[in-house]
Amino acid sequence: MSTTRIRKSTRMIVRSESTRGSARILPRATRAPSFEEIVRERYAARRFDGRPITRKQLGELLELIRLAPTSFNLQPWRARIVEDAALKAKLAPLSFNQAQVTTASHLLVFCANTDFEALTGQLRRGMLAHGAPSERVVELLGNMRAALFGLDAAQRLAWAQRQVYLALAHGLLGAQALGFDACPVDEFDATGYEQALKLPPHLVPTVVLAVGQAERTASEREREKYRYELQDLFF
Ligand SMILES: Cc1cc2nc3c(=O)[nH]c(=O)nc-3n(C[C@H](O)[C@H](O)[C@H](O)COP(=O)(O)O)c2cc1C
Repeated sequence: MSTTRIRKSTRMIVRSESTRGSARILPRATRAPSFEEIVRERYAARRFDGRPITRKQLGELLELIRLAPTSFNLQPWRARIVEDAALKAKLAPLSFNQAQVTTASHLLVFCANTDFEALTGQLRRGMLAHGAPSERVVELLGNMRAALFGLDAAQRLAWAQRQVYLALAHGLLGAQALGFDACPVDEFDATGYEQALKLPPHLVPTVVLAVGQAERTASEREREKYRYELQDLFF
């Protein structure tokens, strides 16, 4: 199989030896893409074509995001799902009028959850109900309290926001794996979002994942990913 072709193509065209060099068009869902294909084919979608993703697709995406890892497994994030066009239009000027925000099928507004006291209580109850040995739970909670409860507000927020980005990564790659597109958006007015979405103070809007079917220009489709070289990044 020509991996070069796969890397450069859209995810719909696969050249395999069995087709003796001709391009075989597969519907997006016919063949599960490899992890490498998911990573190489994913692009930030700057505009969507207005087609909604289905309830099923959304549900599958949320499940992939739910499984994201977090430090201590505290899961210090919540995401508000925005589907309503009027609400998207309200968020657009708070997001530099980026087209992703208004054209997306759904916006997932990822918020850092800084209420560590409530979260540790929820985690303790959940782990015990899940069958975790109580001494393990007691030990984990002790470690967590020692590490987190003494942090000031800014440190708590920074810690929680770091975890949010892992959930975002699951969402970005998850959308690609499920056959639709996504764009991360962190250029927005967090205070404005807080007000528009009527969020409680412990939920701080951190990054938005806009999802839908991308509308790409031909030049965008052909553009190779630019990244620094391995030796620039790893030492
Ligand atoms: C955390 C994060 C925030 C981003 N915020 C924005 C944004 O506000 N607007 C935008 O157009 N792109 C945004 N991007 C997209 C990046 O510009 C894009 O991922 C990067 O240029 C690499 O391109 P690629 O994702 O297509 O490979 C964001 C990406 C990340 C990871």
